[in-house]
Amino acid sequence: MPEKTVGAIRQAESKDADRCGDIAVLAWQRVFDAWEKLVGPVIFAQHYDNWREAKRAEVVGLVREYPERAIVTEVDGEVVSFLTFYLPGTPGVGEIGNNAVHPDAQGQGIGERQCRRALDIFRQMGLTSATVYTGLDEGHAPARAQYRKAGFRLSTPHIRYFVEL
Ligand SMILES: CC(C)(COP(=O)(O)OP(=O)(O)OC[C@H]1O[C@@H](n2cnc3c(N)ncnc32)[C@H](O)[C@@H]1OP(=O)(O)O)[C@@H](O)C(=O)NCCC(=O)NCCS
Repeated sequence: MPEKTVGAIRQAESKDADRCGDIAVLAWQRVFDAWEKLVGPVIFAQHYDNWREAKRAEVVGLVREYPERAIVTEVDGEVVSFLTFYLPGTPGVGEIGNNAVHPDAQGQGIGERQCRRALDIFRQMGLTSATVYTGLDEGHAPARAQYRKAGFRLSTPHIRYFVEL
């Protein structure tokens, strides 16, 4: 029996940009909720108060300007997720950038398959390794799970400190 998959992955088009921005804002809510709990309201307000506008602008800009460096998944003719990628400049390396799945479509393996597709694209480009940056917070737990499922195993942990003055 072939594996049952949800949705079809295709290269993004500029016209997908606004929809990807909408998905980003809905999906990243869990990440920023987690960060607010970690850093408290004062630091959160100072650093992340405008996260919705900033994340939307980043994702819309990337998909609109560089659709050839983004893929989306469609379910029943509607885009439910996206992934952007780029070449960071280190020879042979591809990097996964922003990626998110609409909350209504999460938990069905869509995120994992998008990551696998990005790795396939990197292989077809002749690249020899791939990287992605993510968080160690609870909000990023599904992201870490999807990357591990897609084959990422090696990592360097990072931390970002804050202090109120
Ligand atoms: C990360 C994201 C794209 C994953 O999309 P998805 O389609 O739900 O991913 P998948 O279904 O392929 O896999 C998600 C995995 O996370 C796991 N997961 C969900 N919640 C979890 C939690 N709280 N703790 C640990 N694992 C969790 C799921 O169980 C699943 O793994 P499984 O198949 O082994 O059960 C989606 O959660 C999202 O949009 N998150 C917000 C944006 C984000 O964090 N983007 C990545 C930035 S680096």
